[in-house]
Amino acid sequence: MSMHRATAAAGPNIAFVKYWGDADAALHLPANPSVSVTLGGLSTVSTVLFSDDLEMDDVLIDGAPASELAQQRVIDQLDRVRALAKSELRARVVSKSNFPTAAGLASSASAFAALTTAAASALELELSEEALSALARIGSGSACRSIPGGFVEWRPGEDHESSYARSFAPPNHWTLVDCIAIVSEEHKAVGSSEGHARASSSPLFKARAGTATELVDRCRSAILERDLTALGRAMEADALMLHAVAMTSKPPIHYWMPATVRVMQAVVDWRAQGLEAYFTIDAGPNIHCFCELKDASKLSGRLLGLDGIAQVRTAVPGAGARLVADHLV
Ligand code: PMV
Repeated sequence: MSMHRATAAAGPNIAFVKYWGDADAALHLPANPSVSVTLGGLSTVSTVLFSDDLEMDDVLIDGAPASELAQQRVIDQLDRVRALAKSELRARVVSKSNFPTAAGLASSASAFAALTTAAASALELELSEEALSALARIGSGSACRSIPGGFVEWRPGEDHESSYARSFAPPNHWTLVDCIAIVSEEHKAVGSSEGHARASSSPLFKARAGTATELVDRCRSAILERDLTALGRAMEADALMLHAVAMTSKPPIHYWMPATVRVMQAVVDWRAQGLEAYFTIDAGPNIHCFCELKDASKLSGRLLGLDGIAQVRTAVPGAGARLVADHLV
């Protein structure tokens, strides 16, 4: 019997300048560059077991068989890894995240980063970090940014090989804290794939893409200088632009819920009172609020006190995708 297995862990990432819309939809070449931080503490652990005992691929996510759509996305990614390794072995995939999936917490990023790392290792592919990042990108665009750790930049590139993410500062460069206000753990109504497809139908799409490169430069410098004010201004500007694009797409996409807006307003008020915090929002209602370590417990406490906030999770910059001890299958 031929059997190969590996387990990998990866954290989600949250972008300060986000990926929204494609230059090449099939390859997930983004319309604009993005910059993010890979989060520690939150993670997806994925075990991949290839065996000639298996007749078909089988995918278990968070203890339950994956939906048909999720299963197909995983199988497509396994096919890419198999093609590179010249293998026809079927696989069992067991994936588990320790945070809510598909609610704007970028679970597809950590899931595809962990899956790609585990599958490539199980089939003994020796890929550079850039090549792994590019491969993870085809599974889910932003997953390329969960392969490296710390503070990460994804330049769009021109083809499959040149579109990957790389780290420009390690996790311990700056202990920024992301206080994530969980408004809802429900699956979002419109997934990011549909959001990317609709993005260019917004009259604001070109305007946003035009500002992204400058915002990425501002974010990179702010991070390197540990300048929260500059980073915060850029992250809020980009998040608001992205949601303006989403809300003016045809048909429009509304990710915010009343509590999302309540947090946005509260963060602005708290800042005026001296608590320096800034927000960003992915494709969902949850809202990420960044502050320095010294302010994190105060900020979390205040967020929890707001109406409609079910839970607050905190995360700090973390490591990239890595192999870990096998334990699930
Ligand atoms: O990787 P995808 O297709 O799930 O797209 C990610 C979209 C956002 O999370 C909203 C933005 C980003 O850059 O992470």
